[in-house]
Amino acid sequence: MSSRHKTYIASPQSVIHGTLRVPGDKSISHRAIMLAALAEGTTEITGFLEGEDALATLQAFRDMEVSIEGPLAGRVIVHGVGLHGLKPPAKPLYLGNAGTAMRLMAGLMAAQTFDVTLTGDKSLSRRPMNRVVKPLTAMGAVIDSGEDGHPPLMIRGRQKLKGIHYDMPVASAQVKSCLLLAGLYADGETSVTEPGVARDHTERMLRGLGYPVAIDGRQVAITGGGRLTSAGQIDVPADISSAAFFLVAASIAPGSELLLTHVGVNPTRTGVIDILRLMGADITFENEQETGGEPVADIRVRHAPLKGVTIPKHLVPLAIDEFPVLFVAAACAEGETLLQGAEELRVKESDRIQVMADGLNALGVKAVALPDGMRISGSTAGQLFQSGVVHSHGDHRIAMAFAVASLRSQGDIRILDCANVATSFPNFVGLARSVGLNVRETES
Ligand code: S3P
Repeated sequence: MSSRHKTYIASPQSVIHGTLRVPGDKSISHRAIMLAALAEGTTEITGFLEGEDALATLQAFRDMEVSIEGPLAGRVIVHGVGLHGLKPPAKPLYLGNAGTAMRLMAGLMAAQTFDVTLTGDKSLSRRPMNRVVKPLTAMGAVIDSGEDGHPPLMIRGRQKLKGIHYDMPVASAQVKSCLLLAGLYADGETSVTEPGVARDHTERMLRGLGYPVAIDGRQVAITGGGRLTSAGQIDVPADISSAAFFLVAASIAPGSELLLTHVGVNPTRTGVIDILRLMGADITFENEQETGGEPVADIRVRHAPLKGVTIPKHLVPLAIDEFPVLFVAAACAEGETLLQGAEELRVKESDRIQVMADGLNALGVKAVALPDGMRISGSTAGQLFQSGVVHSHGDHRIAMAFAVASLRSQGDIRILDCANVATSFPNFVGLARSVGLNVRETES
């Protein structure tokens, strides 16, 4: 674990250049460990994200006696135990900051033959879990939670789950995936309808491991009682959510150009590119290919003048993790940018609407928090961000977003509480510096 006290000092720098590969996709890394552990046979995972969130999932499966070698330079070997081979852990499973781990594992654990408690850090312990507890209970799961449906989750084993149909109130890949994983063990069919398109990595990986998944428009269904066979190999592409910081960085810094290699460009994740292109960004795909059922490309981004937009509602779930850095892009765009329909941002690792509005205001940007989004008045003035202090509230993506803002700042931006960047983007500072960003960290 890294020190829990880190401050970034991001200083002005005008141009960035280079080629870089950002770390592995967080969503796919979690799922790769989970499904490889439940498969029959051995799976080699490459490109695995060695960040704290995915490592928490890896440790949880070790705690249930799954033998896992690595990670070493992104390579992990998982000796799968089959759907019924997990063993009771000796203690509660600690999932750190990882909401994805807790919500997906709630579905899996609800179907085991032993009791499990899932816990997490301060931020995870404030996040809503009723969204998974409620439908799992309808399937026959028995789960106690902390106050107001917050973690810890105390999950009682030995329950017979039955398939249900669930109409999800919000487009959430975590809820959808949780129910599909429980559905692997349930009697009959479990189906989920999503109101908007949410990332589909679970469906793709289940199919890759030989488990049939029926997809009909917005409805996904699975029938319990099958087996997962090993895929042999799962290649995890670079995380588009981490690449997003550099897409915005090069877009807002005049004269800049970056090539981001081997990035996952699954169409359920590329909302950030659609939104940046609507704003006028110059982003092109090269070397497009498919690896392990996931589309991948090298992404070239060059500086371009940006203009403010009204963000189309259908793009919100497709860019849900990228709004902190998109707000920085909006601050550098001509005119107003309006985001609505994104109330989910209030229950992420922090309240990303309030925390970003406060940080932007502290740097002299006119940003107004709305109940479900943000209104930002952008400016094309050269160094439009004033220097100042912003609080990331322990939210990795807020910290990295404000580091990117320094490309257009008048002086230093001090970003507080940055240790959690290690949850999704180990060595962010080193990689950012390698292309020319002027950011350093201190232990305070
Ligand atoms: C994720 C789904 C999204 C996203 C999160 C990762 C996943 O959450 O914000 O970072 O891996 O399934 P929701 O499902 O709550 O939208």
